[in-house]
Amino acid sequence: MENDVSEVLLTGEEIREKTAELARQITADYEDKDPLLICILKGGLMFLADLTRQIHLPLEIDFMAVSSYGDATESSGVVRILMDLERNVQGRHVLIVEDIIDTGRTLNYIIQNLRTRGPASIKICTLLNKPARRVLDIPLDYVGFVIPDRFVVGYGLDYGEIYRNLPFVGVLKPELYAEE
Ligand code: IMP
Ligand code: MG
Repeated sequence: MENDVSEVLLTGEEIREKTAELARQITADYEDKDPLLICILKGGLMFLADLTRQIHLPLEIDFMAVSSYGDATESSGVVRILMDLERNVQGRHVLIVEDIIDTGRTLNYIIQNLRTRGPASIKICTLLNKPARRVLDIPLDYVGFVIPDRFVVGYGLDYGEIYRNLPFVGVLKPELYAEE
């Protein structure tokens, strides 16, 4: 599995340091707000787990799973909710935890959808931001790393459901996926 990666973009240690920094900011910003963190499955799983353990607040966690139609490496914007939240978000300070924002289509759909449910606020925390392919402009509140236009895997991110358990973020060898 490690051999399918051509380059380690972010080491586990770099991710740990950045996650701690984001957690400190979130702890300060959400004092007395009892935030509801919404993890977008499955990619946000590792990030959520490491992030929340360093946020020193009485927070709640919920999950949403979405599938974005498209080809293997690009989303179309047609999003389907595979698993919805358990918690009611009305009046809550919602913090969406994502693995990566690429075109922005998936996140845009999620934000529009959550807005209709009457939260007190919605903010975004993403481990990775890939601005090169952005189609929809979405304000990001907490960003771990800005990365170049490469297809990456590991630390939650997959290709064909594999590689999520790599403890770093790496560039997948392009010969392993069909480019359009
Ligand atoms: P968007 O709708 O184009 O912003 O795509 C968001 C989703 O596409 C992410 O939540 C990922 O699941 C997936 N994605 C985008 N870029 C990558 C990548 O480089 N590696 C793995 N998954 C990606
Ligand atoms: Mg994802």
